[in-house]
Amino acid sequence: MTDQNALKRAVCAKALEYVKDGMKLGLGSGTTAEIFVEMLAPRVRAGEKLLCVPTSERTAAHARKLGMTLSTLDEQAPLDLTIDGADEADRNLDLIKGGGGMLLREKIVAASSRKMLVIADESKLVPRLGKYPLPVEVIEFGHKSTATRLAAAFVALGYASVPMTLRQRDGATFKTDSNNVIYDCAFGAIQNAPKLATAILAVPGVVEHGLFIGIATTLLIAGPGEVEVIEK
Ligand code: A5P
Repeated sequence: MTDQNALKRAVCAKALEYVKDGMKLGLGSGTTAEIFVEMLAPRVRAGEKLLCVPTSERTAAHARKLGMTLSTLDEQAPLDLTIDGADEADRNLDLIKGGGGMLLREKIVAASSRKMLVIADESKLVPRLGKYPLPVEVIEFGHKSTATRLAAAFVALGYASVPMTLRQRDGATFKTDSNNVIYDCAFGAIQNAPKLATAILAVPGVVEHGLFIGIATTLLIAGPGEVEVIEK
């Protein structure tokens, strides 16, 4: 097991302490969230009444393979708790998510939850968001034109030039679970995340972005020998 995998398992073990029988849970996406689902599944199989809503088709398939029965957000909202990973997190509990392309459903599920618990290893904790390219999900129709207007919005906010890459996978344009495309926007450092979030959403054609501002309630960060708990 790599060190990073051991840290992911440690943070997932800690996250399990937040799950109580009878809860309605949002299940996040990504490698850390998948480990969490693996560690949660035995409790479900043992008979705990946990109503779980997945944030992606991938997580849904993973959970079903582990013998879990899933529900839908419309049946269960509001959820008690969503447990999800992050690509970057700061000590204010603001996040960048969407490295796996599931940001839209992740945000809908987290926003429909009373609490969001973020699970990550220490490599994700940053003093300032933006080193990880910010995913912006865009409707496929006219996406190049949308990207041009996004770039203009970035310039208007004072970002001189932000490299934007249309995400590819296996030699083709990546499509999200909602059949949209993603532009990864490499800011380097984001100065004012709420202002940037507002500007991005004002561009027609944008569906969602990977900035999670004021949504997470607890951040668990695994380092060697301990899991740090950062509360809002
Ligand atoms: C999925 O779209 C993402 O938001 C993930 O939560 C994020 O990329 C973290 O994934 P890992 O746990 O694989 O690093």
